[in-house]
Amino acid sequence: MAGRVRKAVFPVAGLGTRFLPATKVIAKEMLPVVDKPLIQYAVEEAAAAGIEYFIFITGRGKSVLVDHFDHAPELETLLGSRGREEELESLLASMPEPGRVAAVRQQEPLGLGHAVWCARANLGNEPFAVLLPDELLMSDPPCLRQLINVHEKVGGNVVAVTQVPQEQTNRYGILDVESDDGKVAKAKGMVEKPDPASAPSRLANIGRYILDPAVFHHLDKQIKGVGGEIQLTDAIDATTDTIPFHGVRFEGDRFDCGDKVGFLTANIAFALKRPEMADRVREAVGALLA
Ligand code: G1P
Repeated sequence: MAGRVRKAVFPVAGLGTRFLPATKVIAKEMLPVVDKPLIQYAVEEAAAAGIEYFIFITGRGKSVLVDHFDHAPELETLLGSRGREEELESLLASMPEPGRVAAVRQQEPLGLGHAVWCARANLGNEPFAVLLPDELLMSDPPCLRQLINVHEKVGGNVVAVTQVPQEQTNRYGILDVESDDGKVAKAKGMVEKPDPASAPSRLANIGRYILDPAVFHHLDKQIKGVGGEIQLTDAIDATTDTIPFHGVRFEGDRFDCGDKVGFLTANIAFALKRPEMADRVREAVGALLA
């Protein structure tokens, strides 16, 4: 029913003020969870879901994110000459094929909707994915794959959701639900960061989207929403008249790495999944808590 999703957008122009001073000169998406930068988790999640083209929406000082997916000749030569094949292979394996990474500059921080709109010419008239790298999602199958599986059946706009406590609705895009089978919710709208008192539900969008290019009809109008920003949520909401909209409950573990505690928790959780360090990490955390 729905066309294949080949392209993904990674909005990475944000300044990361919540992690200062760490993010004074480095991009927040380069902060590592164990030994891999956040952006690489998002790109790997997309690649594992079958995405072929990776479009970064960058800003000033963010070129390093594009460099991260390019050759590092000195490093590769050094690792090769020292016989460190495993590290070399892992560096090379993380690089998309030539021509599959593109960067588009968002010249002004006008909001997530504006960031995605900046990629309109690269996206053309086909469904595409958006991944917010701050949200680190640990699951098998990867979150984006879970979305694509549903999108193949229902088409339109699809977002990953999770149920949040009522008092947290003002941190998320919240779905206005029409029907819900416990896994997939059909929605008639979405509201960006509603007050807990007026939130239409507790189903929050967690930063993974499959979008129909129809959202650009709204984004073209450059209408400002909550916080004076051009919101992606508003574009999806405005499109529900003509395009079906579904939320898919994410099955897996979610870490909000835009938050310091979420980021630290992600580091521990991912370290505990690594056989070569899990025991030592468990011991170290146990000793701290003792
Ligand atoms: C963005 C979106 C919001 C979504 C959230 C998920 O908000 O606008 O709809 O629920 O990401 O993390 P932000 O956290 O960038 O303000």
